[in-house]
Amino acid sequence: MKGLLQGRVALVTGGSRGIGYAIAAAYVREGAKVVICGRNELHLQEAVARLQVIGDVFPVVCDVSSISQVEEMVQKAIGRYGTVDILVNNAGISMTFGRVGEIDPRLWARVVQVNLVGTFNSCHAVIPKMLSQASGKIINLKGYGANMPSPRVSAYGASKAAVLAFTRTLAREYRGSGITVNCLSPGVVKTELILNREATPEGRPYLEQFSGFIDVLANPAEKAAQLAVRMASSSTDGVSGREFRVMSKTGLALRLIKWSARRLLKG
Ligand SMILES: NC(=O)c1ccc[n+]([C@@H]2O[C@H](COP(=O)([O-])OP(=O)(O)OC[C@H]3O[C@@H](n4cnc5c(N)ncnc54)[C@H](OP(=O)(O)O)[C@@H]3O)[C@@H](O)[C@H]2O)c1
Repeated sequence: MKGLLQGRVALVTGGSRGIGYAIAAAYVREGAKVVICGRNELHLQEAVARLQVIGDVFPVVCDVSSISQVEEMVQKAIGRYGTVDILVNNAGISMTFGRVGEIDPRLWARVVQVNLVGTFNSCHAVIPKMLSQASGKIINLKGYGANMPSPRVSAYGASKAAVLAFTRTLAREYRGSGITVNCLSPGVVKTELILNREATPEGRPYLEQFSGFIDVLANPAEKAAQLAVRMASSSTDGVSGREFRVMSKTGLALRLIKWSARRLLKG
């Protein structure tokens, strides 16, 4: 049986682990040829060894915050598979939990450089090819802070809010061109991004409070991957500038209510 993405070429940034790896694996299973990137070559090779068992994968070492590295990666992807039909801007980093006055400014700028500028870099490099074939799907990973204030992770929240604004803008700019651009909101997923966090002394209790909620809110990365398959498939043709969520606001509220009720009953 043919997969939903048979014959398509996908580029998944940050595909060596976490949500990006789950998306790459789901795409390969659906018949896509997949290029994955990351900075750590060893992690990339480990991911490729697992993915090659199910299909066609090509790793490229690339830091998405560098436009020259991203342009080179896209050229390698096109050289290998002839095109890029699907771009998933998944590579992202979080930050030390802390208020603006106490955070290292270089770290703040780095988060924006990877999450926002990295997303721009890949779009900039891929769009000419997508335009020439009058088709392409771009999926940008949203995150905490895009729709609400994000105290103590201000760079992360600001970068993800900007990714949402950028997605909507891009969707308008390329309306009618065959290129669609949407956001994927994966909810909370237990990955290194949220499990290995540091905090300033002031931020530590807030990080601990947040960590206590992770198990209540977490979804498996595979849920985000299933949604990413649907977003990349022909079932969403023509849909652009939208946000696709793994968990609705109502679903999130219900989970918190159930958790609070259980705690109350336990006394
Ligand atoms: N986990 C969550 O609960 C959650 C919730 C909402 C949104 N998200 C978003 O989902 C995306 C994936 O997060 P995750 O939780 O799967 O993170 P993760 O487990 O830390 O994985 C991040 C991936 O991105 C790569 N990466 C990081 N910086 C990079 C750079 N500068 N250039 C290229 N690759 C880079 C990493 O590889 P290297 O380190 O080798 O470069 C790795 O493959 C992020 O955009 C994140 O903001 C996550």
